[in-house]
Amino acid sequence: MQRDTHLDQAARTNELLMARRRAALPSGLGQAHEIFVERAENAEVWDVEGRRYIDFAGGIAVLNTGHRHPALVAAIQAQLDRFTHTCFQVLAYEPYVELAERLNAMAPGAFAKKSFFMTTGAEAVENAIKVARAYTKRQAVIAFGGAFHGRTMMGMALTGKVAPYKVGFGPFPAEIYHAKYPCALHGVSVDDAMASIEAIFKYDVEAARVAAIILEPVQGEGGFYIAPPEFAKRLRALCDQHGIVLIADEVQTGAGRTGTWLACEQWWTEVGAAPDVITMAKSMAGGMPLSAIIGRAEIMDAPGPGGLGGTYAGNPLACASALAVLDTFEKEGLLARSRAVGQRLHAGLQAIAAKHPTLIGDVRSSGAMVAIELFKNGDTHQPNPELTAAVVKAAAQRGLILLSCGSYANVIRVLVPLTAPDALLDEGLAIIAACFDALA
Ligand SMILES: Cc1ncc(COP(=O)(O)O)c(C=O)c1O
Repeated sequence: MQRDTHLDQAARTNELLMARRRAALPSGLGQAHEIFVERAENAEVWDVEGRRYIDFAGGIAVLNTGHRHPALVAAIQAQLDRFTHTCFQVLAYEPYVELAERLNAMAPGAFAKKSFFMTTGAEAVENAIKVARAYTKRQAVIAFGGAFHGRTMMGMALTGKVAPYKVGFGPFPAEIYHAKYPCALHGVSVDDAMASIEAIFKYDVEAARVAAIILEPVQGEGGFYIAPPEFAKRLRALCDQHGIVLIADEVQTGAGRTGTWLACEQWWTEVGAAPDVITMAKSMAGGMPLSAIIGRAEIMDAPGPGGLGGTYAGNPLACASALAVLDTFEKEGLLARSRAVGQRLHAGLQAIAAKHPTLIGDVRSSGAMVAIELFKNGDTHQPNPELTAAVVKAAAQRGLILLSCGSYANVIRVLVPLTAPDALLDEGLAIIAACFDALA
């Protein structure tokens, strides 16, 4: 029987499509908003019912260059006309190599770098651990509480949040340990975080068996907590002392979100610390599935031939799009724009927080990676996930797509395209302000 429901305009409401989604897809696939998209342009999205939304979520940090940037569309179309797949390990192509050369040149640290590509952020993390283990010939890895590193087995093992990411999915790979991530707002100083690593060395595994320490320079899903550069400096010293590979997971922070191409460039300029290995994904290819592992050449060369790669990894369409992202950042000055967007959003959210000091306990930003944290009665010991969910829902009803995050589900994060005009940022801020006024 021919199915024509998708052609029937009357059947294309959000409600009816959600019903089909529920019947056909497993419930483990979350859904932040019960909205089905029809089309999108830069920082705006229209749903199947013709309603327009401002997009402050950016596909979870994937759209720093906006929806359908003309330069990316042109690059992908041009590549479509040449070839779409060969498998890089079978027949190579220049865009892959050019992208590696450009990313190597942009990564901080006064040493030679090499890069290779995968498809998802979780795969980049998996491969960063693979190269670190192959290089050090050690097994253990230290990650941090509140971290998110993906949904593969190693990604889940490294992730420092049980529900919903790890519940029911174990056992996980062995030899993964979690230290404390510094967060002054919740009473964890840099000293506390360093002491928690020393405690792992004392109680769980000797430093001489630790292959890698992996951290997000700014925790993404964990709540947009920003590691002080001093923490990076002390981690660098600790890793140097014990021969441990330092990995910066820049899947969410990378590609200009924090005002520099990589957040760890700020470690380099501020305290002279560079990671040995960096993971990227999300906005690096502007919506095409691509991830990168960039690292110290001798570490990256440790796995033997055939140990790295994947059928689709470094797909030519995605590489072409990633090169267009790099060109667009240069042509449009998007790093400076990231800082300007961050300042504008930070100031606007601070004004809302000043009006609602008992609800919003913190406004923080690293470039355009901006968040507010919500509490009850102005008490940072009482997270307010209910109000957070209510603001996200109310904003969508008023035409603004927001995302929450955080270990306590009480953080609203902004990942708007850096290409969004000021007027759109202000329109979004006005909706957030109206939501707080209505829900206070
Ligand atoms: C820091 C970090 N690492 C890894 C991942 C996993 O990326 P992916 O969902 O592409 O596998 C994410 C996704 O949000 C992330 O934020």
